[in-house]
Amino acid sequence: MTNATEQAVLQLAVLVGSLRAQSFSRKIAKALTARAPDSLRCRFIEIGELPLYNEDLEGDPPAAWSAFRAAIRECDAVLFVTPEYNRSIPGCLKNALDVGSRPFGKSVFKGLPAGVVSVTPNKLGAFGANHALRQTFVFLDMPVMQQPEAYIGNAAELLDANGAVKSSDTAAFLENFMGAFETWIKTTRPGGSSFDAFMKQREKIAEDYVNGDATSLKAIVTHSEPATFFSPRGDHLEGADTVAGRYERDATSFHEGGSTDLEVLQASASGELAFWTGLQHARARMGKNGEPTEMTLRVTEVFRLEDGAFKLAHRHADPAH
Ligand SMILES: Cc1cc2nc3c(=O)[nH]c(=O)nc-3n(C[C@H](O)[C@H](O)[C@H](O)COP(=O)(O)O)c2cc1C
Repeated sequence: MTNATEQAVLQLAVLVGSLRAQSFSRKIAKALTARAPDSLRCRFIEIGELPLYNEDLEGDPPAAWSAFRAAIRECDAVLFVTPEYNRSIPGCLKNALDVGSRPFGKSVFKGLPAGVVSVTPNKLGAFGANHALRQTFVFLDMPVMQQPEAYIGNAAELLDANGAVKSSDTAAFLENFMGAFETWIKTTRPGGSSFDAFMKQREKIAEDYVNGDATSLKAIVTHSEPATFFSPRGDHLEGADTVAGRYERDATSFHEGGSTDLEVLQASASGELAFWTGLQHARARMGKNGEPTEMTLRVTEVFRLEDGAFKLAHRHADPAH
């Protein structure tokens, strides 16, 4: 695949578990993100204005919940930097986890690699908060980096009046942590961002299709409305069942021995939607004799996130001349 998003940076959500203006945790979070490798784009996502989680509000969720969920959905991993309150995590952070984890089955955290840094001006390194957070990752299904661990005690002594880290040892520790976290994210999500990974899968599915096998395509075609298909024949179809049926029927016109390549000119994902547009080059065996035919299609596909998975909601393909 010629992929325009191949060099895409990884989006890292940073959640700080303190709302205090002079928070040590936030200062440490800034010191960490300042030392992040170039491939990580760090984005502080604020949690202080999230209304307390109440399942009764899910029918018409508060705008702040929706914005928070959408922001996390755009990210590839989450870094938690938190103080310890009463040997656990502060309520604001637990609330953010609860908001992001619901509605049931639609958690925005599911599968995202996590890193934890606990911070305290006291001596014990906020171990209790660090591990209380790790406990939630089991049910949230977030693979958390195990090593290096980061329990930052005596935070007041580590930072100067401007919030910068004083010693080169601390700076090196933070930089090493971010480097290890980058490796962890790439190991856990080898395809890079979730849509980049999906697009690699999409290419394989296209290959199956031009070999007459629509099984893998079926798994990514939406069964929800709206669904549309502007086919290479010039017609257009509407409705999830109609479109899915047509994809299956059209696949039967291909014989084994075909190949295809997606030349992606643009691809992007944001919130609930993702798209790619470009050229699909194919060498397909069609018709009674299965003679190889070269073709290039101009393609735009739109995907919708449904239960955490990208589903094909629209395809426009027509022959390039
Ligand atoms: C409600 C509350 C509970 C606290 N409990 C702990 C604790 O269990 N362990 C600890 O090391 N510090 C505890 N502290 C002190 C915090 O570490 C300290 O206030 C710290 O500055 C908070 O982090 P921040 O600077 O990022 O806001 C507590 C503070 C508050 C307000």
